[in-house]
Amino acid sequence: MNTEKTVLLIGASGGLGNHLTNGLAKAGYNLALHYNNSEIKLNQILDSLNGLNIKYKAYKADITIEKEVEKMAADIKNDFGGIDILINNAGISINAVSWKMKTDDWNKVLSVNLTGPFLCTKHVLPVMKERGWGRVIYMSSVVAQTGVAGTSAYAATKAGLAGLCKTISKEVVKNGITANVISLGYFEAGLLFQIPEDIRSQIKESIPKKEFGDPKEVVECILYLCSNNSSYITGQIINLNGGLY
Ligand SMILES: NC(=O)c1ccc[n+]([C@@H]2O[C@H](COP(=O)([O-])OP(=O)(O)OC[C@H]3O[C@@H](n4cnc5c(N)ncnc54)[C@H](OP(=O)(O)O)[C@@H]3O)[C@@H](O)[C@H]2O)c1
Repeated sequence: MNTEKTVLLIGASGGLGNHLTNGLAKAGYNLALHYNNSEIKLNQILDSLNGLNIKYKAYKADITIEKEVEKMAADIKNDFGGIDILINNAGISINAVSWKMKTDDWNKVLSVNLTGPFLCTKHVLPVMKERGWGRVIYMSSVVAQTGVAGTSAYAATKAGLAGLCKTISKEVVKNGITANVISLGYFEAGLLFQIPEDIRSQIKESIPKKEFGDPKEVVECILYLCSNNSSYITGQIINLNGGLY
């Protein structure tokens, strides 16, 4: 199957990015796969797509630098003819209790997790609007809704995505474009494995479902939001969290 639609997946080189790439590729989407530092990981992901009947290409950009984001969007338009779906999936976490959080670290988290998605949205929307159809998805976290000690910067940026998304949804609804947030609990990928094992066990115990999420469910949710069947869902926060919130 080939949908003829092009996805720009920001953070394709990360843990969830790998799962999303595979799921979107199997569903027939053409893929513009973004990375920043993890070129080797992204090349392995590209290798796994060999033989599939889709078009795909990698793009390097630091999403905190507007010129790099602008160039990436222009290059993808040139290579693929347009961008139909933007998945803002890059994110970092630097943790410390608020009174020990270095202001440089706070600013770094804000740049990657909030300014980055804003810049990607800003430079992709004009391309998306040309086709009168589009999907914008932001990856947030349950931490934004519950608060977790030590995550002030991360939680603030993930909460900020809700305001960004709701505003974008109002601005582009007339262009056939939806914008939604997926707010994740703890999934077996990427950032989860940065958490020390003893704390991971405590987190698992705190989840009503008593297990971490399977990334396949994130993929399925995103495939639904990317489809024509979700045109009436916009400006929403969709929670996948095993009952945590
Ligand atoms: N895993 C979970 O359980 C979970 C739970 C809640 C929310 N989330 C959210 O889901 C998203 C993906 O998480 P993950 O677990 O897959 O994390 P991950 O494996 O650490 O991947 C993070 C991604 O962000 C990219 N990135 C970091 N700084 C960047 C920058 N300055 N410019 C461009 N890209 C940058 C990385 O690219 P390079 O490595 O190429 O530099 C990488 O692709 C994040 O937004 C995260 O907050 C994850």
